[in-house]
Amino acid sequence: MTIQQVLLLLLLWMWLLHPCRTEMLFRRTPDLRPRSSVGRTSGSDGKALHRQKRGWMWNQFFLLEEYTGSDYQYVGKLHSDQDKGDGSLKYILSGDGAGTLFIIDEKTGDIHATRRIDREEKAFYTLRAQAINRRTLRPVEPESEFVIKIHDINDNEPTFPEEIYTASVPEMSVVGTSVVQVTATDADDPSYGNSARVIYSILQGQPYFSVEPETGIIRTALPNMNRENREQYQVVIQAKDMGGQMGGLSGTTTVNITLTDVNDNPPRFPQSTIHLRIPESSPVGTAIGSVKATDADTGKNAEVEYRIIDGDGTDMFDIVTQKDTQEGIITVRKPLDYETRRLYTLKVEAENTHVDPRFYYLGPFKDTTIVKISVEDVDEPPVFSRSSYLFEVHEDIELGTIIGTVMARDPDSASSPIRFSLDRHTDLDRIFNIHSGNGSIYTSKPLDREISQWHNLSVIAAEINNPKDTTRVPVYVRILDVNDNAPQFAVFYDTFVCENARAGQVCL
Ligand SMILES: *[C@@H]1O[C@H](CO)[C@@H](O)[C@H](O)[C@H]1NC(C)=O
Ligand SMILES: *[C@@H]1O[C@H](CO)[C@@H](O)[C@H](O)[C@H]1NC(C)=O
Ligand SMILES: *[C@@H]1O[C@H](CO)[C@@H](O)[C@H](O)[C@H]1NC(C)=O
Repeated sequence: MTIQQVLLLLLLWMWLLHPCRTEMLFRRTPDLRPRSSVGRTSGSDGKALHRQKRGWMWNQFFLLEEYTGSDYQYVGKLHSDQDKGDGSLKYILSGDGAGTLFIIDEKTGDIHATRRIDREEKAFYTLRAQAINRRTLRPVEPESEFVIKIHDINDNEPTFPEEIYTASVPEMSVVGTSVVQVTATDADDPSYGNSARVIYSILQGQPYFSVEPETGIIRTALPNMNRENREQYQVVIQAKDMGGQMGGLSGTTTVNITLTDVNDNPPRFPQSTIHLRIPESSPVGTAIGSVKATDADTGKNAEVEYRIIDGDGTDMFDIVTQKDTQEGIITVRKPLDYETRRLYTLKVEAENTHVDPRFYYLGPFKDTTIVKISVEDVDEPPVFSRSSYLFEVHEDIELGTIIGTVMARDPDSASSPIRFSLDRHTDLDRIFNIHSGNGSIYTSKPLDREISQWHNLSVIAAEINNPKDTTRVPVYVRILDVNDNAPQFAVFYDTFVCENARAGQVCL
């Protein structure tokens, strides 16, 4: 056998294997061959029929959506082989839209659509066809189902679900870093043509960003984009159907992109030297002043830790970092003394607490400054030799007798002389007096234990050079009882005894 003969045999064999024939099908079913040329595909012609077992594939009509003609749109024709064309057959339509949307000429079997159809509303209609004998009302063909499939036209533009997207990407990201994906949807038929095939392009935002045409993924397109230079970008993305070709429909969306901060800036002290002053009298813990380094970054990338790293006052001062203000507060660690040391120098370092190893090459992420601290002399108030004094005195002592002496000195290096006085509110009867120069307290009126056993005074010491610098000390004077009927005077009192003396009277 020749090759041609083998092929012929093979064809014959395939032909015989196939149980359905075009003729048979036509006999068994109504002729639903669509006559509409619009939107017909090869799947509905006789040839395709031939390859179908039951041949239902051809049971479809195709209709273009959004028909704009003024007449009814022709859909197709039902036809039975039993139809002799003498009008004895009646074609009947039922199912989706039968009688309203789709009408049939009962004599000819022509089907029309009565109004414009939107595929996106309903993509296919299932109907049933019947052919009956008009006289006997007996079906001449079994009822059969068929579909009117609505063909898509590109009548929908791609739309984005959001009008404005917001997205962010770290500054300094490598080129091609994905920022966000935007997706537009197109209501047209994705299975037919390119009406729903969307291509993305960037209308605004170049050269900083790009968009992947197929996916809508927005990526960075420039290296070293620096938030400290520019933080906000507005990118406009267009989605166009018909695969982005001319004539396609398009929709746009806006993407607000914010560059987020990374730690790409070190802290910097604005001054190389900072001068601070502190009175020597300031107690331990007193804040002397603050230093502050600036950092162009934000948030934790701008966070700084301060420390004293060198200088001649490292043991005398502390520095604490104040989180909320990002300042370094310098405090007194040990008591200061102007007479011992008047100037200290500290080297203070500010260092970022959150450092990103990727940006080490931009570092070091720290800076130093010199802090000079001047200790100031302070005019300190007088200091008494004791915190309180208790003097005991017999009630019958001579007027003018010194009952005790308080002592005070000026702690300043200038050592101003002291002036003493009595707080008159504590001695309303003016019984006592004080020698302003030496603090000796003496009586100026007679004492009487029966009237008052205690005289609690307040003595004021003031510096003559600076009278506002004062200190007070309590002086408790206790009056001791004396047997008036049998006085026992000390020898040195004798000459001062003044019988029956009255208050304010001076004995001679
Ligand atoms: C987007 O950015 C623009 C301009 O910067 C701004 O006016 C708008 O408020 C932003 N919209 C949103 C939702 O962030
Ligand atoms: C203080 O001065 C007065 C008057 O000059 C004198 O009488 C008195 O003795 C002095 N007191 C002392 C403790 O020296
Ligand atoms: C004076 O002080 C003494 C000792 O502190 C106290 O017992 C007395 O009550 C006080 N007298 C007056 C009048 O305050």
